[in-house]
Amino acid sequence: MEKFIVTAALPYANGPIHIGHIAGAYLPADIFVRYQKLKNNEVVFVCGSDEHGAAITLRAKKEGQTPHKIIEKYHKKNENSFKSLNINFSIYHRTSSKLHHDTAQQFFKALHSKNVFIKKKSNQFFDEEANQFLADRYIKGTCPKCNYEDAYGDQCESCGSTLSPSDLVNPKSTLSGHIPIMKETSHWYLPMQKNEKWLKKWIESGEINGVMVHDPKKWKNNVLGQCKSWIDGGLQSRAMTRDLDWGVKVPLENENGKVLYVWLDAPIGYISATKEWAKNEKKNWEKYWKNPDTKLINFIGKDNIVFHCIIFPIILKEHGDYILPTNVPANEFLNLEGGKISTSRNHAIWIDDYLTSFPEKEDVLRYVLCSISPENKDSDFTWKDFQTRNNSELVAIFGNFVNRVIVLINKYWGGYAPNRSSINKEDDIVLRKICQYPDKIGTYINNYKFRDALFELINLARLGNKYLAENEPWKQVKTNPKRTETILNISLQIVFSLSVLSEPFLPITSKKLCNILNTSFSNWDCAKNSNNIKANHKIKNAEHLFEIITDEKITEEINKLN
Ligand code: MF3
Ligand code: ZN
Repeated sequence: MEKFIVTAALPYANGPIHIGHIAGAYLPADIFVRYQKLKNNEVVFVCGSDEHGAAITLRAKKEGQTPHKIIEKYHKKNENSFKSLNINFSIYHRTSSKLHHDTAQQFFKALHSKNVFIKKKSNQFFDEEANQFLADRYIKGTCPKCNYEDAYGDQCESCGSTLSPSDLVNPKSTLSGHIPIMKETSHWYLPMQKNEKWLKKWIESGEINGVMVHDPKKWKNNVLGQCKSWIDGGLQSRAMTRDLDWGVKVPLENENGKVLYVWLDAPIGYISATKEWAKNEKKNWEKYWKNPDTKLINFIGKDNIVFHCIIFPIILKEHGDYILPTNVPANEFLNLEGGKISTSRNHAIWIDDYLTSFPEKEDVLRYVLCSISPENKDSDFTWKDFQTRNNSELVAIFGNFVNRVIVLINKYWGGYAPNRSSINKEDDIVLRKICQYPDKIGTYINNYKFRDALFELINLARLGNKYLAENEPWKQVKTNPKRTETILNISLQIVFSLSVLSEPFLPITSKKLCNILNTSFSNWDCAKNSNNIKANHKIKNAEHLFEIITDEKITEEINKLN
């Protein structure tokens, strides 16, 4: 049995969840976790709200609210959005909790007493109107790399470059619109350059202190590429504190008005979330985070790679007691109808809105987002493609196969699973193929290839359809009942395998299949057997799995976007 801590990036509690979030991190993480649980592995799956940083205070300013009101609103809303799509965290925690503040402060103190940080004076942008130092996000200007005029001080949303405020051409304060001045302040810095050697070795070869802790061949190319270019560019010192009044207070004397850098406190949120979960479950959190047998897997979007692969591992290693990530399977970005998803321009599909338009179609969205998941490059969601995948894959292949088998058995055998007494050579081939799917799909999931995994699931339904088309049980039922029984028995085994193997991707559909089959299952590998439904087992009537989505409905959705 393996032991996992699976994390999904803590979303800022400053706005609702959209399909880009889901496809980027939360759905692949949930599929991975559901699969590991069915393999009888032990998994704690943590997530929660990231409630600090300028992302929150800026939003508060925009909505004319206090930061506190903002996080209350979006924490609940986002937790519900995830629930509504059956993304099944062990815990959805929050970084505003006392437990988190305590944990982050202890962490900072531990590093401070090991002399990991260096205190340095520097000049930083200060808004004289607003009388405050400006967080990177409070400064906007022209991106030096692509000339986009609305780049933030920490990042250009147009070309994706990571920036620092002094890189910007024509910087302006977003608080007052004025040109900020430079003013002296002091902060605690993490000298990352000291860690270059072990870090490079750890990422590239998976080795740390002579021990192999991960397999670099399992790391995604997009992730390795970004890490390499950061390290080759030379690591620098990075400030771990900020002049702000919103966040985790720096736990030292005479450091009033300073808080921890949000990218120091947020990843520690994974640890405090695990602590809270362990408290509730009467488990020991240290058996996860301080146990070299645990695999820590961080699901994130590509804009988070440097924080998870470089900065946080350095922090964990400097602390000394903690494991480092086994893998960081970051996805690229999902676009929408050819354009960037944007909260501020309202170019997005929000999960709440989707479920209002398409009630009870949670699995359809999971299916489509997994099929087009931006695993290796940016991908595009279009409503037309959504319709096609629903109508010609879920309805025409998966739903159609299941429906034909269940209807025939109810019609001709009164709902009792028929016998299989005349297995021929072709049947044997099909039976053997059925048994291969669990490993085929499982291997893809273990390698973070969720699109390929899902494609194989549909291939299993395709196999079923082909088998029915070649054997035409509806024609043979009168002339050759023995043969028909066998064909339907084997088809029923395929339906059972679909009920198991669809669970990570389509959890509601899996439940419906179990209900129709009047069965249940408890692990993945039972689908390696092709005689799970015994003759005379009573099944139930067919029920609706998927339905055609019309052109009118799709046009309506497209119009909403324009
Ligand atoms: N809130 C960050 C974002 O949305 C992600 C934080 S991930 C964590 O980009 F590691 F810091 F928790
Ligand atoms: Zn740019």
